This record gives sequence, C-alpha cells and structure tokens, in this order.
Amino acid sequence: MTRNIVFSFAKAVFFLVKKLSRVLDLPPENLIKSISAVPISRNEEVADFQLCVNSLLENSNDHSRPDVQVQATRLAEKLKCDRVVSEISTGRGTINFKINRELLTKTVLQQVINDGSKYGLKSELFSGLPQKKIVVEFSSPNVAKKFHVGHLRSTIIGNFIANLKEALGHQVTRINYLGDWGMQFGLLGTGFQLFGYEEKLQSNPLQHLFEVYVQVNKEAADDKNIAKSAHEFFQRLELGDTQALALWQKFRDLSIEEYMRIYKRLGVHFDEYSGESFYREKSQEVLKLLDSKGLLQKTVDLAAAIDRMDKYNFDTMIYVTDKGQKKHFQQVFQMLQIMGYDWAERCQHVPFGVVQGMKTRRGNVTFLEDVLNEIRSRMLQNMASIKTTKELENPQQTAERVGLAALIIQDFKGLLLSDYQFSWDRVFQSRGDTGVFLQYTHARLHSLEETFGCGYLNDFNTACLQDPQSISILQHLLRFDEVLCRSSQDLQPRHIVSYLLTLSHLAAMAHKTLLIRNSPPEVAGARLHLFRAVRSVLANGMKLLGITPVCRM
Ligand code: ARG
Repeated sequence: MTRNIVFSFAKAVFFLVKKLSRVLDLPPENLIKSISAVPISRNEEVADFQLCVNSLLENSNDHSRPDVQVQATRLAEKLKCDRVVSEISTGRGTINFKINRELLTKTVLQQVINDGSKYGLKSELFSGLPQKKIVVEFSSPNVAKKFHVGHLRSTIIGNFIANLKEALGHQVTRINYLGDWGMQFGLLGTGFQLFGYEEKLQSNPLQHLFEVYVQVNKEAADDKNIAKSAHEFFQRLELGDTQALALWQKFRDLSIEEYMRIYKRLGVHFDEYSGESFYREKSQEVLKLLDSKGLLQKTVDLAAAIDRMDKYNFDTMIYVTDKGQKKHFQQVFQMLQIMGYDWAERCQHVPFGVVQGMKTRRGNVTFLEDVLNEIRSRMLQNMASIKTTKELENPQQTAERVGLAALIIQDFKGLLLSDYQFSWDRVFQSRGDTGVFLQYTHARLHSLEETFGCGYLNDFNTACLQDPQSISILQHLLRFDEVLCRSSQDLQPRHIVSYLLTLSHLAAMAHKTLLIRNSPPEVAGARLHLFRAVRSVLANGMKLLGITPVCRM
C-alpha cells in the first residue's frame, strides 16, 4: 500500500479521499472537488491540503446545517492521523492536513521527475476529462493591411489556448482565418498594376503589398478612374477571371509564406491557413438559406463555421479576437442557432482588451516582424549592458526568446479582457514580475545542473529537504495541477503566470540559501533534485504559455 502511495501523488490524495469518504460517509467525487493543496504563504508555515467544508456541504441535503466552523470542528474530530496524515487542524471553514514529511518530499519529487513534461496533467483533476476535438481560430490578419497589436494578442493568446488544450490531451486544430477577400483586393490588383514591383513583391511581400495598398487608397480618393478600375478588378475576381485570380493567388501565397516564416520566430504554427476567400462560393448557398429566413449579414463567418463543422466535427470551436468583435460573434452564434444548427452552443468567443501605445522605432506597429525585431534589438542592448550576461553561441536568438517571454508575461499577467498601456521599459525589467525574470531563473537553474549535475543522479535523501524553504517549494509544486485546471476552465493564462512567478521567487531565494557547493554530498544531491524539479515545472509552464525557455543568458 505504502509503495503505491509513494509512486503516485495522485494516489496519495486518493488515499486521503478514500479515508475521508469512509469516515465522513460522503461520496468520493464530492471530496475530490473539495480538497485542494494549500497556497503557500510568505509569513507562516501552512498545511499541505485543505478540505473546504462549505463546498463539501453544498451538495448535502441537510438544510438545518449549523455554522461551518462548528461543522469543520465536528468533522475534524472524527478523523485520526496515520502514516500518511501527520497533523489535522481546522482553519477558516476548512480542515487542514499535513502529510508525513518524508512521504510528501519523496512523492512530489518523484512525480515531477517521472512525469516530466506531463507533470500536473496526469492529475486526477483531469482523469475523467473526455478527449475533445477543438478548433481554435486565432491571429487572422488581413492580407495587405496592417498587422496590428490586436492581431499580435490574438496570436499569443490563441497559441496559449491551443497549447493548453493539446497538453490536456484534446485534438486541436489551429486555424488562421485570413482577411484574404473583398474590395481591398480590387484596390490591390489595380494598385499593383500601377505602382507595384515584381522584385519587391517577391523579396518583401507584406511590406510591398501594404505600401501599394496605402498608395492606391490615397490615389483612389482623388481619382475616380482608379476607384472604378478597382471595382472592376474586384468584379473580375468575383466572376472567377483566371488572370485576376492568378494575381490574387500570388499575393496570398507570398504573404502566407512570409507569415509562416515570422510565426516560426514566435514559435507558433497553424494546421490550416483558411480565409474569407474560401467561403465566397459557399456563402452563396448560405445566402439563399438566410434570404429565405430574412437574415442577410455575417454570411462569410456562418459559411466558415458550417464548413468547419463538416470538416472537423468539433466539440468546441474557440474564436480569439479583440472585444470589439464580441457583438459580431454573438450574432453569428445566434444566427447559427436560428438556422437550426444546435452545435452553435459549442462555439465560444474569447475576447481580449486593447493595448495602447505599442510603438516601435519605425512608429506604430504595422508588421509583426517589426515587433519581433524591436524586441530583439532592445533585449540585445539590455543584455550587453548587464554584467552577468554570459558568452552566448547565438545571442540574437537568446535575446529574441527572452524578449518574447517578457512580452508574453506582460500581456498574460492580467485578465485578457482588460485594456492596458504598453511600455517597453516595464516589459523588460529584469527584476520583479517579468518574463525576463522567469528566463533568468530558468537559465540559472539550468547552469546549476550543468555545474553539479553528474554524480547526483541517484536516489536522494528526503531528510535533507525538511527546511521551511524546501517544504514551501514542494508545497508549491503540489499545486501545479490545480492551477492548470483553473486556466483550462476560464482560458485565462494569468493563473499559470502568477504560479510561475511565485515559483521563480521561491527558487531565487532558495538559490541563495540552499547552497550546493561545499555541502555534504547527501545534502547537495537532495537540493539538486529539488532544483531540477523546479526547473522542470518552470519549463513546462513557460512552454504552455508559448515561451521557449533559455538555458543561458
Ligand atoms: N481578420 C479579422 C480582423 O482583422 C479577424 C477575423 C476574426 N475571425 C472571424 N472569424 N471573423 O479583424
């Protein structure tokens, strides 16, 4: 029995659940939901698990129930300590459990090390979770137009949601739904014939198409003939004129090629590059149906949704866009409902707020690449000015990874729906709650392993990790699954962000006091295991957020 418990933390909780279920005469399902790891506190030692008495009694039929505190005390009195539970106490509306220290230490560390990138995801919190087919639509820029901050946010948020869903075992399809049809292509077609350059288009399509688009818009405002020929060009496109379509296709293909290159720098990929153009014919069918019901509007999105259902048979479809489009999606979902598609309720809009004031040296953000270049050059500058910066094999790449971490953490810290004022200085602070700090912590932990790693890889002595700092770290590691669970429920990355920041603060403090150099081998080995576990969980969490951890900086 004890052996089993040692090998799986999940079972340790389960053991607690079983025991409680027996003594308190309550179904285990209720208990699992009511037991959680206790968040660590700066000021005091805390217990390991708590049973929330209120949530436990929510399902009970006893309406005459007395005060929670009285209930907690009464229930706690029925429980006894044993080999697993070493202390039972009551808190505010809770019964608290302290687990046998040796068992806690061994279980948590072994679990982290054995589960590797799956740590936290194998938890019983997710065990009943059915595997779903999930479509996530995100990024979705418009060809030849600005790639603005809203698209950037959609990109990193959508990527996070897709990563998280995938990590939880769902089958995820990532769709980039391009703005690749409409009058803008009439203008672009005409504009390109007037002031386009084939070489520029080939070498720098996004930039060149944007320039042509800006120019032709200006000219069309003064020159009726240009506006007219733009209309004609678009009409040719709509009628399927081969030449016009070939030019449109070239614009689209070259743009996607370049997008892909840039998304790669971000560590983002898509399974499908779709777009409004896909539905120009399908919309016709939908149109007829809508016409018959007196509903004409939103047809392209309707056609796209119906097509995706046919193609992917999704259980959930998530649209990630700025909150300005909230109404639009509400209407789209409603119309699907009216059209008789009851799967409309599987569609979900994840809205996010507006970022003000993100500027690069070239001015307002126009291209994703500008943001990436800005991040890289600012970070390179920062790194050059910091004394502790290491010699790096590829400083450009490291700067980009650290800078992106900074950007993502800044963006994910608050509620996605909140607007915020952007500041490069705040993003790149190396102290405090920033992505730079997470990367720095990860790199330091990595170098600890590199310096002292070999020779300590065998068993560790749990007795060497009983100081309050080590215990706090273990308790914090214990909560990772609950944090993942929260983020997966509300699709907000901030729970994971604040968890990782706390983990990094704990690691930074421990790094100062739990020395490895000059410690007896047994102590050094145990600490190294602890640090290795921290690094592993830190890396897992960072990757979920879309950050590539660096090993040196
Ligand atoms: N391309 C649109 C824009 O830039 C976003 C598309 C959102 N997705 C959708 N299915 N309508 O605003």
